Amino acid sequence: MSGPTMAYICGAMQSLFDTSGESEALAAGAVLLRGRALPLATTLLAAIEQIAARAPFRRMTTPGGFEMSVAMTNCGQAGWLTDRKGYRYDAVDPQTGQPWPPMPAAFLALAREAAAETGYAGFVPDACLINRYEPGARLSLHQDRDEADYGHPIVSVSLGLPATFQFGGLKRSDQPRRVALGHGDIVVWGGPSRLFHHGVLGLKDGLHPSTGRHRFNLTLRQAL
Ligand code: SIN
Ligand code: FE2
Repeated sequence: MSGPTMAYICGAMQSLFDTSGESEALAAGAVLLRGRALPLATTLLAAIEQIAARAPFRRMTTPGGFEMSVAMTNCGQAGWLTDRKGYRYDAVDPQTGQPWPPMPAAFLALAREAAAETGYAGFVPDACLINRYEPGARLSLHQDRDEADYGHPIVSVSLGLPATFQFGGLKRSDQPRRVALGHGDIVVWGGPSRLFHHGVLGLKDGLHPSTGRHRFNLTLRQAL
């Protein structure tokens, strides 16, 4: 067999087995791009390591006085913070007294492309929160609302161990749907779902070939 028939079968097989092109609507304005970050995963993880060498992962304290189970750092013009004084963005890392490390070009390009694919052309993130989960770490339902302009979407990139993402609605009491997020998956939400509650269930123990016992998540925002 050769020629057009072979080409047809190869094309069909590719779409059967290559899941990296799939996209799934989660809500109005919210899309899951399955495996979209896979080609860049090694680059992203190396960049995270370099950022963490200058701005170490740390477990922050909520305004209510609880230490978060997720360890965090940031890169970009502004970094997201929480402490006893509240939630906010700041250009300076309070732990080092230095500006947050610059946003790597790969973060910027990936976020811009994922946002454009989802219908948010012209997205230029200036802040990236980097979350590191270890087994048991979780993030309770919350809204991302410390940004200046909700007209911009949120782009979230998952790396390493799989997790169960919760994606709810405008009200905290809206029953969230559960979405399995794995290595290389990207979720984009904006427009009507920009302020939807979301969270991550306790990370199950495991060993990922690229990240060991960790999950990393990048949330890229236009915050300022
Ligand atoms: C977040 O809401 O900041 C992180 C979400 C995730 O880790 O998937
Ligand atoms: Fe969030």
